[in-house]
Amino acid sequence: MNRELLHGKTAIVTGAASGMGKAIAKLFAQEGANVVLADLNKDAAASVAQELPEGKGHAVQTDVANDESVAAMVAETVKVYGSVDVLVNCAGVPQAFTPIEELTLEMWDKIMSVNTKSIFLTTRHAVPHMKAAKKGSIINIASIASIRARPGLNAYCASKGAAVMLSKALALELAPDQIRVNVINPGPAETPMLGKFINGDAETVEAGKKEIFIDSVPLGKLIQPEDIAQAALYLASDLSKIVTGEVMNVDGGRGI
Ligand SMILES: NC(=O)c1ccc[n+]([C@@H]2O[C@H](COP(=O)([O-])OP(=O)(O)OC[C@H]3O[C@@H](n4cnc5c(N)ncnc54)[C@H](O)[C@@H]3O)[C@@H](O)[C@H]2O)c1
Repeated sequence: MNRELLHGKTAIVTGAASGMGKAIAKLFAQEGANVVLADLNKDAAASVAQELPEGKGHAVQTDVANDESVAAMVAETVKVYGSVDVLVNCAGVPQAFTPIEELTLEMWDKIMSVNTKSIFLTTRHAVPHMKAAKKGSIINIASIASIRARPGLNAYCASKGAAVMLSKALALELAPDQIRVNVINPGPAETPMLGKFINGDAETVEAGKKEIFIDSVPLGKLIQPEDIAQAALYLASDLSKIVTGEVMNVDGGRGI
């Protein structure tokens, strides 16, 4: 069914070259949005843009942890499509299970930069355009790891917990300008990222996916990228016009 729930809106989706970001970009374009696919992986983002309806996708190579790169991407969005109505912060990096004393400063900084600082950077550049329009929807993809920790995912859990609280602070701050800020907490999801949380050879990783992740989900299966895209569509569209500061677990019950 094509309801065009995002007709006339422009959405920036970071991390749109893969997994959940890719599914969000595709669904948003099907629903009428113009989509900027902002990802470090330029070729993969361009190839996803090609799969969208004609004229609906524009790939921009972006490092979400770099202020200049983010500023250029937002400027290009406005140049190409004229506005920024929706911002989905989906780009992220995983962490292989690592004891805290083995976690390097570089690993900590990278995880915090890509998963948390990125939200600060994209928001600071997108918000002036949203304020001028007196509307906007920002959707931050955190993780159920923000409320249910796992041993060895120290930096990852911290990065996602910070993303949730930053989102709540922004929801209050930006409400007078009718800019909504909400969070989706995915549970373990069937994307290229999942195996990267587990150290070891291919066999260990496959066994770990079942023992560590699938068995921790009450509904007994992994979350699909399209499940996250459906939640993002609700939060991006006017169906959720009175919803802000909300944290939506899309997790098969993992957060209970
Ligand atoms: N897969 C899971 O089990 C799971 C669970 C909970 C939350 N999440 C979160 O969901 C989001 C999407 O994850 P996914 O599973 O689709 O992952 P994925 O690995 O399939 O996709 C991540 C994308 O982010 C991009 N990216 C990485 N660093 C970047 C940077 N510095 N700048 C721009 N782009 C960058 C990658 O190129 C990739 O295209 C992430 O924030 C992740 O932490 C994932």
